[in-house]
Amino acid sequence: MRKPFLGGNWKMNTDKASAVALASALADSVGSLTDKVDVAVCPPFVYLDTVSQALAQSSIAVSSQDIYFESNGAFTGEISTDMLKDVGCEYVLVGHSERRHVIGETDELINRKVKAAIAAGLKVIFCVGELLAQREAEQTDEVVKQQIEKGLVGIDAAGAANITIAYEPVWAIGTGLTATPAQAQEVHAMIRNLIAGMYSQDFADQVRIQYGGSAKPANAAELMSQPDVDGLLIGGASLKPEDFTSMIASAAESV
Ligand code: 13P
Repeated sequence: MRKPFLGGNWKMNTDKASAVALASALADSVGSLTDKVDVAVCPPFVYLDTVSQALAQSSIAVSSQDIYFESNGAFTGEISTDMLKDVGCEYVLVGHSERRHVIGETDELINRKVKAAIAAGLKVIFCVGELLAQREAEQTDEVVKQQIEKGLVGIDAAGAANITIAYEPVWAIGTGLTATPAQAQEVHAMIRNLIAGMYSQDFADQVRIQYGGSAKPANAAELMSQPDVDGLLIGGASLKPEDFTSMIASAAESV
């Protein structure tokens, strides 16, 4: 049985006061739902420390939105794994579509980041997903397969046990267009099959695969009812504590 896992990706939103207010409101409202659902929030780097402190008494984990693969040195503007652990991060997002397509990160860079995070003892939410043109050209499976195979090069099953995969079709992110539950299920099942081939069926049965892309209270239950959808990675709706909590409740009911 895979415990549902919901992540709230705040992206480049909030300020210090609203980040703390959001984290505190969430901690108050989730209550015992975290017995049934793992929950993490991903604030901007500069608020990680403060948000970690605000969540210290809760079971909500903290994740960064990115990472750098070198451990220290002359890498102006970058943030290392040790720095993230130092401020209470348990998870890191790697390969988010906005980093792939807006910032220009390659599969090779993403692979180095995944390896560095695992080596440092961090858990990774590894994001993949196709562009609209790729879906329209019926290349979804191939694109996602390549992203996973290249992103996980050199990572054995012990390392991969620290990974959650987030399938986020780029055309659904922030657009209000959600993949239908059937579309999400189809890609999630393909991903689980791929992971079974790369590692083992037992391993694939354990790995959690989140869906992301305009997930909201109105569609959370239906998405979570799909057999291979084990969680959600939520952008916009995670900035509203009542919406995020309602989605966590839907995930708890899906168990
Ligand atoms: P939205 O939920 O705002 O579409 O964002 C999804 C996402 O990119 C989460 O990482």
